[in-house]
Amino acid sequence: MSFRIQPAAPARPNRCQLFGPGSRPAIFEKMAASAADVINLDLEDSVAPSDKDSARENIIKAISEVDWGNKTLSVRINGLDTPFWYRDVVDLLEQAGDRLDQIMIPKVGCAGDIYAVDALVTAVEAAKGRTKPINFEVIIESAAGIAHVEEIAAASPRLVAMSLGAADFAASMGMQTTGIGGTQENYYMIREGQKHWSDPWHWAQAAIVAACRTHGVLPVDGPFGDFSDDEGYRAQALRSATLGMVGKWAIHPKQIGLANEVFTPSDEAVAEAREILAAMEQAKANGEGATVYKGRLVDIASIKQAEVIVAQSELIANS
Ligand code: COA
Ligand code: MG
Repeated sequence: MSFRIQPAAPARPNRCQLFGPGSRPAIFEKMAASAADVINLDLEDSVAPSDKDSARENIIKAISEVDWGNKTLSVRINGLDTPFWYRDVVDLLEQAGDRLDQIMIPKVGCAGDIYAVDALVTAVEAAKGRTKPINFEVIIESAAGIAHVEEIAAASPRLVAMSLGAADFAASMGMQTTGIGGTQENYYMIREGQKHWSDPWHWAQAAIVAACRTHGVLPVDGPFGDFSDDEGYRAQALRSATLGMVGKWAIHPKQIGLANEVFTPSDEAVAEAREILAAMEQAKANGEGATVYKGRLVDIASIKQAEVIVAQSELIANS
């Protein structure tokens, strides 16, 4: 094991990130009243180019006027390949109130992308005397993004979260699908004449989790497009949680409850984790490094695994 201690990711609930277009201010109050932990007001791909200026104005106004409670409040800016992004940053940082917690940078391809936004944000913060530094979150949604995922995770102390954006990712990779996340019809293996579907998002998710955990960033699963498919959403979210992700986006309010359910450790899981911790305490008292719990091995690594579940549950309970 490296002598470097793995840094902790920010201790905040991030089970559900609810998105809404900045061009639809009528839903901002509903977003604020929702059970999502994070709100993402969008200036990017859910806003038509002709609406970018008015969406920016709507969002700046709403940041101060709407009561966002104790949610993390984030604005997704436009990508660095557009003519819109610098105006997004400058207007938000010059005009939005201190309630703004973070900005989301989409389609990042390398650490330099974060550096560019960081430089601009740092300059505007200093010029305006903003005392609360803005955090960053990024979306990995391109071939370059996944190829450079580790340098991106390490790019700025402002970075707190990283999401996988399945749709743009699929397009950039040349994947033959129009689905946004979830099971893909043609991604299967054959065993004894039966089809078994596999998960084409798995490796990208695992790469994101590894990069995030190395650098103390929260790994998050992105959108699931078919909001009439609760079971599909739940299955995708359960896989993400199993891989170490802490939450998932909602692109419709009906997905919020599903995300919260999956990313809140169940009472049974927490009870079992506490039992494992108790069993290991007993083992330690007996001078043993390993013991048997319900017929299976638990050892010192099991303590860390159990602590992940207990810590997540306490974090949510205390939020
Ligand atoms: N946040 C909060 N409330 C929302 C909402 C959202 N993102 N989307 C819809 N609602 C509200 C509607 O206003 C409606 O409220 P009402 O019952 O008081 O009338 C209710 O939820 C049901 O909405 P529904 O009619 O099913 O959906 P819609 O046709 O109004 O909107 C979408 C559907 C997909 C266009 C909309 O949910 C949306 O814009 N989602 C976010 C898209 C986005 O930001 N994408 C970028 C990230 S991928
Ligand atoms: Mg995208």
